[in-house]
Amino acid sequence: MKKILIPLVILVLVAVACTTPAPKTQEIAEPSVPIYTGEAVVHEFAALPYSYDALEPYIDAQTMEIHYSRHHQAYFNNFLKAIEGSGYEQASLEFFFDNISYFSAAIRNNAGGYFNHSLFWSLMAPAGTGGAPSDTLAQAINAKFGSLENFQTKFNAAATGRFGSGWAWLIVTEDGSLTITSTANQDNPLMETEAVQGKPLLALDVWEHAYYLKYQNKRADYVANFWNVVNWNKVNELYEATLN
Ligand SMILES: [Fe+2]
Repeated sequence: MKKILIPLVILVLVAVACTTPAPKTQEIAEPSVPIYTGEAVVHEFAALPYSYDALEPYIDAQTMEIHYSRHHQAYFNNFLKAIEGSGYEQASLEFFFDNISYFSAAIRNNAGGYFNHSLFWSLMAPAGTGGAPSDTLAQAINAKFGSLENFQTKFNAAATGRFGSGWAWLIVTEDGSLTITSTANQDNPLMETEAVQGKPLLALDVWEHAYYLKYQNKRADYVANFWNVVNWNKVNELYEATLN
């Protein structure tokens, strides 16, 4: 009996082993949630680097006051509200822009509005104090656009041609070349969703809130006068930083 039983048990065990399906390899999905691993950032609403009337007569004091203390402040406050409880309270703006398609419209619009305006204020200075393009920047502008004047004409076209609300930009693309672009709403060229991406050197706000009190519907006049208050020293600094 034993002689028959032992081979029978072995046979059954082999049969069971052969018919038992191999465990499926667990599929590991690509993480869709971006993880912030950078340094903790404390978001701050920086002071305007000059007085409200400092850019007169090209940008009037009332527009500056409303633009900074109401519009910019609202973007900043709403950005903080939008990220509250998200787990991304201490993430950098660059991180949000790198992963912007993951985040809500509230984060996108307000992170953009917060960053774009902070940059914009720094890119302007009272008339006669902003310096001029450095030799390095001037060479790059000439190489790409032929002359400073041609560059300004093209930048003006981007600013006046942006339908509705948005921004005009001079950026450095990944291959190091200068490019003019424009974005809608509070988007910017750092956002991964933009067709033309790069590091901003110069930005111009063409929302009506930026000019309507003084210029009404004449956006082109506002754009032309912007050149009187460009802070080229800051533009030069941003360009140098992209070369390092
Ligand atoms: Fe604005």
